Amino acid sequence: MARITLGVSGGVGAYKAVEVARGLQKQGHEVIAVMTEAAQRFVGPLTFEAITRHRVITDQFEPGLNANVEHIAIASDTALLLVAPATANIISKFANGMADDFLSSLYLATTAPVMLAPSMNVNMLAHEAVQRNLATLRARGVHVVEPGEGYLACGWIGKGRLAEPDQIVAAVQQLLQPSGRLSGRRVLVTAGPTYEDLDPVRFIGNRSSGRMGFAIAAEATRRGAQVTLVAGPTTVEPPPVAELVRVRRAVEMHAAVVGRMDGRAPFDAIIMAAAVADYAPAATVAQKIVKTDRDLALTLARTPDILADVGRMLPETHRRSVLVGFAAESEDLVARADAKRVRKHADFIVANNVLEPGAGFDVETNVVTIVGPEGAEPLAKRSKADVAAAILDRVERLISARG
Ligand code: CTP
Repeated sequence: MARITLGVSGGVGAYKAVEVARGLQKQGHEVIAVMTEAAQRFVGPLTFEAITRHRVITDQFEPGLNANVEHIAIASDTALLLVAPATANIISKFANGMADDFLSSLYLATTAPVMLAPSMNVNMLAHEAVQRNLATLRARGVHVVEPGEGYLACGWIGKGRLAEPDQIVAAVQQLLQPSGRLSGRRVLVTAGPTYEDLDPVRFIGNRSSGRMGFAIAAEATRRGAQVTLVAGPTTVEPPPVAELVRVRRAVEMHAAVVGRMDGRAPFDAIIMAAAVADYAPAATVAQKIVKTDRDLALTLARTPDILADVGRMLPETHRRSVLVGFAAESEDLVARADAKRVRKHADFIVANNVLEPGAGFDVETNVVTIVGPEGAEPLAKRSKADVAAAILDRVERLISARG
């Protein structure tokens, strides 16, 4: 098992870092805690010392630190530098190469992978400066465990809460032991609905919860794949993945997906589970639409078909990528799904009858038929996790057939 350095910076989520340390130990890892000065205002070093059974590093200039081989070796000896919580301040220091305390110096000195679990006020997180620093770090290969949404300690509601300790531990496990059958493979998954804005307060959406796509992303991650998850607005928490891209509208989802079909290593599989709006208001009104006594007619314009566009692009750039589409039908399931498969150049379509009990939106189970060139395979009702496993079994077979 690995030696992990756990950097704790000064956010209110610092108390959760204790649980992270315990979770990592339960997986058999050795944990060395490094606390910034501000972190010690939230939690005492003694807590981490008692849990990790190692002296906690709190000061760059601590007497004895530079003579102590164990601590000097930390930069070269660690399998991972994990910072949880990572405040806006430490993110900025890492992005800008500052080295005014032990943790920021360690970031520069180590060649080990680095993972951050940001935690801060919703507006701080959304601030361009913080987003730019995170983008800089991501571009350098730093892994980011997305913060959660909800009630924040500062009293605001929004995104910024430290990811749950078990999510952070799962992300670490995934990074340190990519030993599954999809290890070394890149998988892109779309999930959830899209919201097409009518005006600043109204939108056209659908009832997709994202659960099916999230189950696929989680299962692909469990099998060792590097997963990019492009998710529309949902209240269901997405699983920990290598890259989470949040979008709102169909055009944004299209840009996020198509923009990733560039010079980077191609995806081994692209699985489009999102319920993308086919039409969006032809024009979004900047001001709230005010009611009158007359009826209101909306003009809707077609959105780009992401699956069809990717299907068109693949033969040129990503010949080996496996392309999977979904189809929600209420009649003529197999024939319609097969027509979609051919029209959108997908390898197979996962079709479900939305009228069937236990299938479709907002439930934990699904009843699907997999429609490929060799025919249709109906699967009995099962959990979305088991449907995801069946889909990925088939994806794996196609990947290995293509070499
Ligand atoms: N899809 C997409 N972009 C769109 C619409 C759909 O990528 N603008 C994808 C979905 O993610 C799904 C598949 O296409 O994988 C099928 O979606 P569906 O809306 O059922 O298909 P349509 O071809 O739009 O079929 P219909 O004419 O029945 O609406």
